[in-house]
Amino acid sequence: MTTILETLNKSYQDLYNQNIKTAKIDSEIILAEVLKVSRLNLITKQNTSLNRDQQNLYNSLIERRKKNEPVAYILNKKEFWNESYFVDQRVLIPRPETEVIIEMLLKKINNKSKPFCILDIGCGSGCLLISCLQELRRSKGVGVDISSAALEVAHININQNQLGSRAKLIKQDLFKLNIKKKFDIILSNPPYLTDINYTKLESDVKNYEPKMALVGGVDGLKFYKKIISIASASLKKNGFLGLEMGDRHYKEIKKFLFANSFKIIDKFKLINGEIRCILAMKIS
Ligand SMILES: C[S@@+](CC[C@H](N)C(=O)[O-])C[C@H]1O[C@@H](n2cnc3c(N)ncnc32)[C@H](O)[C@@H]1O
Repeated sequence: MTTILETLNKSYQDLYNQNIKTAKIDSEIILAEVLKVSRLNLITKQNTSLNRDQQNLYNSLIERRKKNEPVAYILNKKEFWNESYFVDQRVLIPRPETEVIIEMLLKKINNKSKPFCILDIGCGSGCLLISCLQELRRSKGVGVDISSAALEVAHININQNQLGSRAKLIKQDLFKLNIKKKFDIILSNPPYLTDINYTKLESDVKNYEPKMALVGGVDGLKFYKKIISIASASLKKNGFLGLEMGDRHYKEIKKFLFANSFKIIDKFKLINGEIRCILAMKIS
């Protein structure tokens, strides 16, 4: 029987030997989940021994991490905004920078009890749509994705959040999307990596996350023209369009937005100076 401290020391070492830079935090997060305690509890209980089942489960999860599988897929969960999402290899793991879209949007909405109509294009796990529906309690929304596998996961998250009566999912290629309805808010974090950048990704992303969720063509821009034209036709006047984008995309996207009667009302810059998210408003 090994203690929490001995178990952690061994897995730090095993993961470091596989060049996993986050060895310490990954070991702690995985063990805390196996023991169903907080990470702080691991320290206060470091001399407690694991039972055989706990040890076997932990070892099997660490074996998966040693092969570079992301922790979110190993544990089937990822925090985003105020919720914990079910995730597996059918969907992109929600990223913290995507939360900025929600933050920028909420800052501009004074009356959060108005019934907004929301569209999330390329909804994946459903994280953007669900976060909005949780914050804007009288709103309804639609999530669209080309991947039925991703929509199965979004469905799990909608049920987990008891949003079945306010959220609808549609399997559709956005290039064939024909929208009759008008929306107050359209959000999208489309695939935006260039083909070349995709080849340079770390193996934990490249080998595990769906390529369809990541790659946006030769220059990574092909989705934006279409999303902006959908938004131009389907957003109400003064409606919001929140977008995440890749490195060096801002200038081109800004041009598409201006050509389609949008003004940019907020933007989020990474520390490397790249604009990663913007919020635009339809002005006519
Ligand atoms: C970058 S992921 C974003 C997922 C989620 N919104 C998030 O922010 O974590 C892009 C999503 O777009 C979907 N997608 C890719 N091509 C599409 C297309 N042609 N039409 C609709 N959805 C598409 C992918 O399946 C994926 O779920």
